Amino acid sequence: MQKIHIFDTTLRDGEQVPGCQLNTVEKIEIAKALEQLGVDVIEAGFPISSPGDFQSVIEISKAVKNPIICALTRAVKGDIDSAVASLEFAKRKRIHTGIGASDMHIKYKFKSTREDILKRAIEAVKYSKKFVEDVEFYAEDAGRADLAYLAQMIEAVIVAGATVVNIPDTTGYNLPHIYGEKIKYLKEHVSNIDKAIISVHCHNDLGLATANAMAGVSAGARQIEVTINGIGERAGNTSLEEVVMIMRTHKLAYDTNINAKKIFPTSRLVSKLMNMPVQANKAIVGKNAFAHSSGIHQDGVLKMRENYEIINPHDVGIASSEIVLSARSGRAALNHHLERLGYRLKPNQLKKVYASFLTLADSKKDINDEDLHMLMGKTSLVEKKLKINLLEVVCGFPLKPMATVTMLVNGEEYTAVSNGNGPVDASCGAVNKIIKESKVLKTLPVLKEFLIQAVTRGHDDISKVHVQLEYKNSVFYGYGSDTDIVVASVQAYVDGLQKIV
Ligand code: KIV
Ligand code: ZN
Repeated sequence: MQKIHIFDTTLRDGEQVPGCQLNTVEKIEIAKALEQLGVDVIEAGFPISSPGDFQSVIEISKAVKNPIICALTRAVKGDIDSAVASLEFAKRKRIHTGIGASDMHIKYKFKSTREDILKRAIEAVKYSKKFVEDVEFYAEDAGRADLAYLAQMIEAVIVAGATVVNIPDTTGYNLPHIYGEKIKYLKEHVSNIDKAIISVHCHNDLGLATANAMAGVSAGARQIEVTINGIGERAGNTSLEEVVMIMRTHKLAYDTNINAKKIFPTSRLVSKLMNMPVQANKAIVGKNAFAHSSGIHQDGVLKMRENYEIINPHDVGIASSEIVLSARSGRAALNHHLERLGYRLKPNQLKKVYASFLTLADSKKDINDEDLHMLMGKTSLVEKKLKINLLEVVCGFPLKPMATVTMLVNGEEYTAVSNGNGPVDASCGAVNKIIKESKVLKTLPVLKEFLIQAVTRGHDDISKVHVQLEYKNSVFYGYGSDTDIVVASVQAYVDGLQKIV
């Protein structure tokens, strides 16, 4: 098994995301989490860029002992001096210096020539080497650089002392096979390439950062530069969780030292401290990465997880897969959740509850445990004598509320219309008319209490209604729940009447 070094740049390239800047305390917290995760190198910052970055590299160097602490510089002496000073307390230190390698950068960024840039690259490595043994050189925009010139530059910086050579696809332009061929070309055309580790640093402008990094590794690179959650400049960088799990899932001939069980907690820590939500469908760490919502998939996963999952969520620190209940869920998924909550239903009972579930799921996006308890409370598993078939209410300003109710009483259908001082009053009035007409009760009960429980979460949540009815010196309780408060109220009233009947 060959080792792939994980160079984490969440605190440098990742932290360049607009609006996601961290203070030193937060950076230390993330650096400690990265150490626990098992990364080999932490790029702690770009010390010359600001006093805050300089100080952060110092503090991270003090706080973390296992990973190499790396500081970024341009190929400029002042940058290198600043990096050297910031790394004073690092147990293991690296300077990451470099310069643009593409003609685009040489001409339009540096307004210079290939020869001059080559000289500056060599000088920067030689100068860094005076202070630290471990020097990584980056050939910025290598993705668009002329291959022969790139090879010449890489060979020269290795002669100058570079221990790691980073081949960034800075603009995320390369296709995987092109990037892989670039690494292969360097392996074949740089005579001293065996004296350095090749590093891949890919950006995600075309959504290819992970694919490109893996192509680089299969062509011989042995270090991958990554960020947690793939955050970074513009569309981001190669994400740590993706490359690690690609190697593990495919049991490739190379692997990392990452403790994958720490992936999810680290992802959430970074997301929280950077104030940057993880997109729901993000591979490995997105909210939906292990959530199954369609009936066919849910049924398959419940029969055997591997039917629809190639990674065990436990392996990346996620407690379990999720069977999301929605209008697309099947009976297997509903039963799974009901059993989890302690309800054991016979097939005909499940059929009934499932029918009520579908009605609820059509009006409410997320069905949670509380909803399921309510569903079980209101779905009677014995035959009912009173059943509401229709409830139609007209109300509003300046209308007088009016309700039409159609009900089955002992299997016979009745319809009544009533006015009231509000939609609930009008609806209960219509129910009373039906009770009287059908003679199912001799007298009407007295409504002693009517309690509406407030909506708990969002505007589409369920209202719960409890009623107390007094009938011949006994008290009967009725319960209703629905996303429509009038429907819930009438259900509760009829449920109370049902108990009397
Ligand atoms: O994308 C890039 O080229 C970089 C370098 C500074 C390594 O981030
Ligand atoms: Zn970058």
